[in-house]
Amino acid sequence: MLSHLRAMPFMRSGRVSASPSHTAIGLVMLAALAVPARSETPIRYVGSARVWILSSGEFSYVLGVNERGELQSIYWGQHIWRDQDWTAAKSHPQWDGVDPSTNTTPEEYPGWGGLRFFEPCLKATLGGGVRDVVLKYASHEIHGDELVVTMKDIGGGLTVDLRYRVYPEGIISKHSVIRNSSSAVATIESAQSGAWLLPAADGYHLSYLSGRWGEETLYTREEIHRGSKVIESRRGSTSNQFNPWFAIDGPEPASEENGAVWFGALGWSGSWKIVVEQTPHRDLRITGGYNDFDFYYPLRPGESLTTPPFYAGFTSHGFGEASRLLHRFELARILPRSSAAHPRPVLYNSWEATGFAVDEPGQSALAEKAAQIGVERFVMDDGWFGARDSSRAGLGDWTPNPKKFPNGLKPLIDNVKRLGMDFGLWVEPEMVNPDSALYRAHPDWVLNFPGRPRSEARNQLVLNLSRDDVKEYVFAALDRLVSENAIAFLKWDLNRNFSEPGWPEAPTAEQRTIWVRHVNNYYEVIDRLRAKHPKLEIESCASGGGRVDLGVLTRTEEVWPSDNTDAFDRLSIQYGYSHAYTPKTMMAWVTDVPSMDGRSESLQYRFLVAMMGSLGIGSNLTKWSPDEFRIASKMIAAYKNIRSTVQEGALYRLLAPGKGPLTASQYVAPDGNQAVLFAFLHAQQYGRLAPAIRLRGLDEHALYRVQAIEGRLREESGAISGAYLMNRGLTPMLRGEFDAAAFLIERVNQ
Ligand code: DGJ
Repeated sequence: MLSHLRAMPFMRSGRVSASPSHTAIGLVMLAALAVPARSETPIRYVGSARVWILSSGEFSYVLGVNERGELQSIYWGQHIWRDQDWTAAKSHPQWDGVDPSTNTTPEEYPGWGGLRFFEPCLKATLGGGVRDVVLKYASHEIHGDELVVTMKDIGGGLTVDLRYRVYPEGIISKHSVIRNSSSAVATIESAQSGAWLLPAADGYHLSYLSGRWGEETLYTREEIHRGSKVIESRRGSTSNQFNPWFAIDGPEPASEENGAVWFGALGWSGSWKIVVEQTPHRDLRITGGYNDFDFYYPLRPGESLTTPPFYAGFTSHGFGEASRLLHRFELARILPRSSAAHPRPVLYNSWEATGFAVDEPGQSALAEKAAQIGVERFVMDDGWFGARDSSRAGLGDWTPNPKKFPNGLKPLIDNVKRLGMDFGLWVEPEMVNPDSALYRAHPDWVLNFPGRPRSEARNQLVLNLSRDDVKEYVFAALDRLVSENAIAFLKWDLNRNFSEPGWPEAPTAEQRTIWVRHVNNYYEVIDRLRAKHPKLEIESCASGGGRVDLGVLTRTEEVWPSDNTDAFDRLSIQYGYSHAYTPKTMMAWVTDVPSMDGRSESLQYRFLVAMMGSLGIGSNLTKWSPDEFRIASKMIAAYKNIRSTVQEGALYRLLAPGKGPLTASQYVAPDGNQAVLFAFLHAQQYGRLAPAIRLRGLDEHALYRVQAIEGRLREESGAISGAYLMNRGLTPMLRGEFDAAAFLIERVNQ
């Protein structure tokens, strides 16, 4: 990104110290310069005003040093082309003695110290028991698309590098590196990645994703009032309950395609917290990072703690464009490079078909059937290892069960490969059943407090991955599996949350570092595994969607969003999911009916729902009728024709689930030549025709041919203009209840 740098008189590259000595020169330059065009340089520094301007996509993000040396947020919003418009940051006035200026000034990264009463970014106990952190600007460096602002505690005890990165996709990220610069131990009690700030106003709204097992990532939008709304996980992993994504709109409400939306997401797969706080003065602060609950991270002199990246962006084109920005960013910057260019293969997974009852003949029979309908990857789920006949035993013993696989996994894998598919395997490496050889050999390897109960969930305990020996065991077990077998893909599961989070062998002061260490070691194991086996792909699963975030997605190609595979329920789960994450990462299976809700949607309906993400099949194929095979083959062939549009294209959420009789989504290929419309009828009311669905993202002057993938249209076939499709719309013939249709829209060469 250094090539982005264009020398501007008021920009500084390299380290600059706290001295404002160049102020006068800078002011003269500012007056003399009038730069009407938008600069391509992603980060500019106006030295005279001590202001940094970060710009990307549609927005500018501006921060500066105020007269007290505090780092102050100045602006986050629609791009402002004229850098000279920005003047030095100035602290806000006090509001009587109870709200002094330090508490009304929008600081970028406030420590808990002095007269500050809002959510801090950093809370620590320093040498001598000092519980006061006041950060002042020390210096900064700009290297192309990266800005590092170094802050120092006024007592010199802590030095904090605030690291900003500007991505050309319209996203910036921030995180901090907190260093103990004293000669005594300093203990960090809250370490946030940073805060995003918006000016005082009424009428802001918060959107977020929440749920529970079986109904993850449900979308909620609610008005923000004074006080704090906390979304978080205290569970050790990202959680099925809340996902670390937010969006803010207001004061004028945004819609799907219009209005200002500020949004962000954390890249962390452990306990996290996002606090959306409207201060008594109506400023909005969105602070996020490690969850400070039970957080206690000692730093010896010279040691440092790095917080996770907190990504954010802005658009004036509504929630739809906010997600499309995130999707483009994830495809370009987040997903593992090695596999980002490939489409996700059509996958089969055995879990719903066979449960724990997997064996070589049974899985081979499923593989034969899967290959016939066009599946490209066959994944054997839980039950293949140790004494694993139920959830009660075997976790931790990662060798094939000798009764089920008397000759190891090789015969099955060879068969799968002979059928033209690659092979994937389920693992849950961070867990152990007490009834396992691993636990009998190493009862001290789990999180525990001596003399206290070890609470089991799903009959399992959490391995203490913070320990080096446990980490090495997990790496070695997975490395052996992947080295000895032709495994292309691991489904990495995690089926319970942390409890009794003790690490008795570690010094008391360090035991609570498990909240950070576990996750970093989990990341390290994946990174080492992928480095050694560069073709290996991974799915992140945690009892469904319990580990979905921008941290894990830098290391895994896809995630399992929910154990709920009922197609109608999935519409809501996928709708919420799509606000934060690209459909390419969203594994979606077609499974048998009646579903876990007792509902029986048609096979076509189930396919069309799953085709809106990365398609998988989870049915018991040995029980399917010839007709079901025929439908599945046709649908999988159709999916292969549209999958690059679904996985890499622009998503338009045309009609949200639960808002009316229809749900509809449209995907447009990056080159604009192909689009796909999916439409679902919940239930018809007598005499009420389903309305026409107006498409988006097409060229109004181009002609398109519309063909049915499934279902029929009221419109005549033939070439139709983009203008017609986007303004008059298409009317799928949907009837009864749980009906579905999909249409391929292809640009006609004129
Ligand atoms: C939970 C996952 O979400 C399921 O898909 C399945 O893999 C089971 N675990 C296996 O135990």
